[in-house]
Amino acid sequence: MTQNSKVPFVDLVTPHRELEAELVSVFREALHTAGFIGGPMLDGFESDFAKFCDAKFCVGVSSGTDALRFALIAAGVQPNDVVLTVSLTFIATCEAISQSEARPVFIDVDPRTYTMDPEKLRSYLEKECSFDAATGRTTHLMSKRPVTAVVPVHLYGQTADMDPILELAAKYNLAVIEDACQAHGAQYFSKKQNRWLKAGSMGRAAAFSFYPGKNLGACGEGGAVTTSEEPLAAKCRMIRDHGSSKKYYHNVIGYNGRLDSIQAGILRVKLKHLPRWNQERVECAARYSELLAPLAGSITMPHQPSWSKPVYHLYVVSSANRDGLQKYLGDAGIGTGIHYPIPVHLQTAYDFLGYRRGDFPVSELASEQILSLPMYAGLTAEQQRQVTSSIAEFEAAWATR
Ligand SMILES: Cc1ncc(COP(=O)(O)O)c(C=O)c1O
Repeated sequence: MTQNSKVPFVDLVTPHRELEAELVSVFREALHTAGFIGGPMLDGFESDFAKFCDAKFCVGVSSGTDALRFALIAAGVQPNDVVLTVSLTFIATCEAISQSEARPVFIDVDPRTYTMDPEKLRSYLEKECSFDAATGRTTHLMSKRPVTAVVPVHLYGQTADMDPILELAAKYNLAVIEDACQAHGAQYFSKKQNRWLKAGSMGRAAAFSFYPGKNLGACGEGGAVTTSEEPLAAKCRMIRDHGSSKKYYHNVIGYNGRLDSIQAGILRVKLKHLPRWNQERVECAARYSELLAPLAGSITMPHQPSWSKPVYHLYVVSSANRDGLQKYLGDAGIGTGIHYPIPVHLQTAYDFLGYRRGDFPVSELASEQILSLPMYAGLTAEQQRQVTSSIAEFEAAWATR
């Protein structure tokens, strides 16, 4: 992960050096106008990012976690509700559900895409819940809690299989909030609508993170909610700003969850480069897949279904000897990551939910075998060859051990 590595896991320095003059001028503009909160930098970014996502509205907030929390609350999730999501995700997905005082319930992921398995969602809703047509409400049979929302996670830059998820959500009257924190620009081909849809435009709302390492990253913290529902956008705007839509008039108890104007200005500069950066990531992914093809027996490469145009926030392979492979690559100066080593249902913080090992076998096996290889715009073909030949060396030694 360090800059001293032969092949770092990410390189956050080069793009900032390249854009230094433009980024510094954002800061200078903010200093000269003292425009630190709200104002044209925020408005401009929100308008550009909404367009980028094919959504009508974007509400800049202080992080991806807050974006999820505000979207859930604005969509009507109430304390004690059940919200369905996946366990193979960054813990923030579930923290946001818990912070909205709802209870996360997990659905296992598909073994090839690592995103929510729609068949398992169907099975949960059919076997463990009941839908009351008179009230339009779904209830979890055992706990009697209302089931009100589903949060599919567009993991590693690839969307979940949204058609069946949206169909089930419509049938059971669940709000779909996309966790698009890793998927700026990812696309999904909807057979139902016969067109490509952008991440951030498919659910009632979506949450994005602008944590520095994301495909679109701020120079600090940041996030956004996208939605095409005006009341939902208005509610998120209110919640991010102490529950007020007019200064010192507070309609609900909200949060201090705004996106700084300087970060918005920086994100607006970077957004212009995002399509090119995403394209470079896609090309790097294709090159990895070509270079790793001879190792297909021992290394599983990312699966890209025909309905998906991913943006490769991460390039994640899997190996039965993942820990050995990671150590070998580390010793060779190659940075890697594990996203994520412990699925959320087995995290200590979520002990109280009462899940056990074995409850979500696909997520659990994935967490033992997945390895994220270096991936960023600017990763060279030569660096990728170093990565893949080190993997080949390790696998050959492992096979003949
Ligand atoms: C899938 C997912 N959800 C939510 C988040 C939370 O975003 P943030 O770190 O901006 O709060 C992240 C960011 O790491 C993420 O990867």
